This record gives sequence, C-alpha cells and structure tokens, in this order.
Amino acid sequence: MQLFLDTTDVAVLKDLAATGLVDGVTTNPSLIAKSGRNMLEVIAEICDLVEGPVSAEVAATAADQMLAEGRKLAGIATNVVVKVPLTREGLMATREFAHEGIQTNVTLCFSAAQAMLAAKAGATYISPFIGRLDDHGADGMDLITEIRAIYDNYDFDTEILAASVRSPAHVTAAALAGADCCTIPPATFLDLFKHPLTDRGLEAFLKDWAGTGQSIL
Ligand code: G3P
Repeated sequence: MQLFLDTTDVAVLKDLAATGLVDGVTTNPSLIAKSGRNMLEVIAEICDLVEGPVSAEVAATAADQMLAEGRKLAGIATNVVVKVPLTREGLMATREFAHEGIQTNVTLCFSAAQAMLAAKAGATYISPFIGRLDDHGADGMDLITEIRAIYDNYDFDTEILAASVRSPAHVTAAALAGADCCTIPPATFLDLFKHPLTDRGLEAFLKDWAGTGQSIL
C-alpha cells in the first residue's frame, strides 16, 4: 500500500519524508488556507521534497476553468496530480485531462456510483472520504470495499486512495479492504509507528542489555 501525507506543512513533510516511507502528498484548499501560504509556492516546494505524486486541487467549479487551472498546476512539476471535485463538471475536466496525459485525483467521493463514473472518466486516483462518511453515520470502509469490487469486476485502472483518514485503524482497514493508497494526516502517520508493547518490550531489552555490561561497537 502506498502511504501519502495529507499536509501542506513543509517542515513536517521534510521530517517524515526522511523515513523513506512517504510515497506521495495530498493537499486541499482547506490545508492551503491553514498554511497561510501561496499555493503555487507550497506545491512547488512539496514537489521538490517528494518524488511521488503530489495532489494539488483546482478551485474552479466549471470544467473549462478547472482545465485552465489544472494545466497551470500540472506545469509546476512532473509529479503534480490535479485534484478535481466529483461533480459533473469535474468529471468532464477529468476526461479531458486524461486525454492530455495529465494525472488526476477525483476528490470528495462518497458513493460507489460516483467512483464508477470517475473511473470511466479516466481518473488516475479516486478519493473516497472515509472519516466524513463515518461522521455522517455511515461506514466509510464499506465504500472502499464496494469500489474495490467494482473496479476489479471491470478492470478499471483507477487507484483507490483512501482519504479523510483519522486513525491507524482506518489505515489498516483500508489496506485490508484493498485500497491502493491511503492519505494520512501527519499526527496519524506518527501514530502508525507506535504500540505500547513495543515501548515496554524495548525498555526491558535495554535494561537487560545494560546489565550485561557489553557494547556492540
Ligand atoms: O484531503 C482530503 C481529506 O483527507 C480530508 O480529510 O479529515 O478533512 O475529512 P478530513
């Protein structure tokens, strides 16, 4: 499973990219607003730090404007993926981007029918929003399972990018349900490393090792 960071915080990204475990980055207009920075500059910086796909979202709602914005974003770096909302206009733009060889991430997906349309439009990635579905009283993970089955039934190439992920349990469940990628907020990414038994076990090993008086180097 590919792990992406859902962030516009360049310092945090630099720190976590050093683990070698960050395969890509996703951003959205809310994260850009939170950064307080110029979008084009942040995306360029992120693309310098990460070799993998970096999603940058259009702000327009009409297909022709999305195309203009998306072409500009795609011009920033070869690893930019243009993120478009799952609307009729968004999928029209997605289809054209596919013809032009521009990669897309179709976002704000909340149903399997929407995901099927995105795949037919030639989306590179589909982003089902797990956490927001859970917040809404549904089971976000069921959506991943349904999309996986539909994409496999028809050999769609579109990759399932689990988004709106809120916990390590979401990451594990998305992996079990067959998502291709998962985009994770930095705090949750850090939580993936942790287990109390790891801490307890290491503490005991270190104590016992110190008691031997030995040194490996
Ligand atoms: O980038 C899209 C998505 O990951 C947003 O997550 O937590 O705002 O629902 P959230």
